[in-house]
Amino acid sequence: MAKRDFLTLLDCSPQELQALVERAAQLKRLHRAGTAPRSLAGRTGALIMQLKSTRTRVAFEAGMHQLGGSAIFLSPADTQLGRGEPIADTARVLSEMVDVLMVRGPSHQDVRTFAEAATIPVINAMTDLYHPCQLLADIQTFEELRGPIAGRRVAFLGDGYNMCNSYINAARQWGFALRIASPSDYEPDAAMLAQTGNAALVETPREAVAGADLIVTDVWSSMGQEEEAAQRRARFAPYQVNETLLDQGAANTLFLHCLPAHRGEEVDHRVLDDPRCGAWVAAGNRLHSQKALLEFLLGVL
Ligand code: CP
Repeated sequence: MAKRDFLTLLDCSPQELQALVERAAQLKRLHRAGTAPRSLAGRTGALIMQLKSTRTRVAFEAGMHQLGGSAIFLSPADTQLGRGEPIADTARVLSEMVDVLMVRGPSHQDVRTFAEAATIPVINAMTDLYHPCQLLADIQTFEELRGPIAGRRVAFLGDGYNMCNSYINAARQWGFALRIASPSDYEPDAAMLAQTGNAALVETPREAVAGADLIVTDVWSSMGQEEEAAQRRARFAPYQVNETLLDQGAANTLFLHCLPAHRGEEVDHRVLDDPRCGAWVAAGNRLHSQKALLEFLLGVL
């Protein structure tokens, strides 16, 4: 059977994605009951993080362990990758030793190169273009707290970067209506938007959040954009999610942020403690959705 990769949400069918979300919810229940399966017994995963991570790394390492497998963290600084060994050579070698690779890097093309050269599944642990693992947890969280996402209204405020791109893909795969408000020059790629009939740019944050069932934002300066931070703060200030903006959403709107959050920038500190904030649940759900993804890619279900 051909190996499967998970570089974007479009690598799975809508049915497969929904099955992943449902399996993640089941794995969460089993974990809490102390009856988690040993479905990855004897399997090993390698995690290559060219950028920093807390949630993604811990979810992968703890998730492999909870399902009976093991994980190896490979810092580029401590491996031959850091001394210039080609990505393709590294991918071929690791394919002989472990069962799955999880890769985070500043270049989506680098993760594609890993996937092309590896004979084992490769998971995108976040690149400049996409963060599909976060979307699995976000959708799991919305459905856990608010019910099915299909047909709902979702607002994304802020930078048209990897999280926004992932929400555009999610709108297509799960069938919800996405409205995006971004400052000019920070909008998502027009071609990507054009491919997704149910995602649209709107003029103002208020227009985006009006009646929204889910309101999402992300940091204004992602990893590697620190030098632009002051300029970005000025441009993005009107896009901050605060209680006033949250009140414009649907009566039971949910707020999500992939974290880490910059309080006082993209989100007011009160919103993170508001009962409508699901970001903490979503962070915990990273563990279970990544376990479901590992089971799926390793073909153990
Ligand atoms: N949301 C997210 O990916 O968190 P980390 O950067 O801590 O992995």
